[in-house]
Amino acid sequence: MKLILLGAPGAGKGTQAEKICDKLGIPTISTGNILRAAVKDGTEMGLKAKGYMDAGDLVPDEVVIGIIKDRLAEDDCKNGFILDGFPRTIPQAEALAQAGIDIDKVIDIEVPDEKITARMSGRRVCAKCANSYHIEYKKPQVEGVCDSCGGELIQRKDDHPDTVLKRLVEYHKLTEPLKDFYSNLGKLRIVEGQEEVADTTALVFSALED
Ligand code: AP5
Repeated sequence: MKLILLGAPGAGKGTQAEKICDKLGIPTISTGNILRAAVKDGTEMGLKAKGYMDAGDLVPDEVVIGIIKDRLAEDDCKNGFILDGFPRTIPQAEALAQAGIDIDKVIDIEVPDEKITARMSGRRVCAKCANSYHIEYKKPQVEGVCDSCGGELIQRKDDHPDTVLKRLVEYHKLTEPLKDFYSNLGKLRIVEGQEEVADTTALVFSALED
């Protein structure tokens, strides 16, 4: 299955991508994680992307479109994939279609802006492997330490409240129009994000079968 997860920053796309990946055995491709890894490694692409990301702006379309085309050409994507954080603009969605990539379903996770701000301030990520936690909803076994690799848990620069507000403005302006784009193609399924992760997962799984 070829899936897209849509939703505002912090709506829970990464969290649900992990669950779908476990259930269907298809890889998750997160442009955010790929870009953060490039920033950490100090590659040319990372140096270009860093300023945009720290400020809560979208990275230029041509950069992310290039990343996705290369990644989807890899072997593990043959039987399907989950796109988390791509496309984020109409030109990105058009580039996907022009590359002949036929998406089966687009799951949009809806969470009101006020809830997003609270969730983001509590998110912590592993500085080493990028696993994501929450100080209240998804605690690590040992405070401040990643369960998977023992790395240090830190707050992402773009999770600070002012930057989150800017990311939400960008989302409503540039990404939300994708709902109409995919609804017109009959591919959009809307899931209301719930308080408990497991309740959202149950709704996502039933949307996959719908
Ligand atoms: P990216 O990493 O894609 O950020 P995002 O879409 O803003 O998504 P997040 O990772 O912030 O949130 P999420 O929806 O995955 O939520 P999560 O599951 O972690 O992109 C970062 C930046 O990279 C962008 O701003 C941009 O600059 C650039 N970029 C990336 N892709 C791009 C593109 N295509 N084009 C241009 N630029 C691009 O959940 C959030 C928190 O809430 C977690 O702590 C989690 O534990 C908790 N949580 C999750 N579900 C629940 C629940 N049901 N109840 C309570 N808490 C929950």
